Amino acid sequence: MFHSIPQPILDRMKYLEQIDAQDREDGTSRLRRLRQIPPETGKFLALLAASAPEGMYLEIGTSAGYSALWIALACEMSGRTLHTFEVLPEKAQLARETFQAAQVEKGITLVEGDVRDYFSQFKDIAFCFLDAEKEVYAECYEAVIPRLVRGGLLVADNAINHRETLMPMLDRALTDERVDALVVPIGKGELVCRKI
Ligand SMILES: C[S@@+](CC[C@H](N)C(=O)[O-])C[C@H]1O[C@@H](n2cnc3c(N)ncnc32)[C@H](O)[C@@H]1O
Repeated sequence: MFHSIPQPILDRMKYLEQIDAQDREDGTSRLRRLRQIPPETGKFLALLAASAPEGMYLEIGTSAGYSALWIALACEMSGRTLHTFEVLPEKAQLARETFQAAQVEKGITLVEGDVRDYFSQFKDIAFCFLDAEKEVYAECYEAVIPRLVRGGLLVADNAINHRETLMPMLDRALTDERVDALVVPIGKGELVCRKI
């Protein structure tokens, strides 16, 4: 998977990595910043997604589509489609440009809107990456876990750098008997939950 990433995907990843690095240095406002995962988290997500069972692949929080490109590598291998949700129109537009430039439009469905309006349409989820505003994490957790297939994975970003804010949700996950869960110290900290 990592040895044969198509050039248009590599080029767009590099481009977004440069913008993200610049954003963090030049005082770009929080709303405009891409706030994307680092490359090692992308690889981790792709490995997990490639090992997930049959079912829906979801991402909550697209931004400009960087993490979606990593997850899409795993989807492409198995002929699956990723559904990714983004509430801000400007970010959704950037993501559209990303998917077009990287030539992955066929494998990714971008849904522009608040993910909470779509929960009732989720079912049989095999893999979900949660990377939205921290205020919605708990609600997303409670919506996604019952809809995971057996062996399905929920991965939530920022489990270490936003540990205090996310503590109630992290505690809930780590003691939730419906899942096996742990926090992996990679990137900003990934909570990984596997449905029992
Ligand atoms: C941290 S960024 C995502 C970065 C992206 N996952 C990446 O690594 O390339 C969070 C994004 O989630 C979006 N978002 C926040 N709350 C949302 C919601 N309720 N539904 C859909 N998108 C949401 C924000 O607009 C923002 O673009």
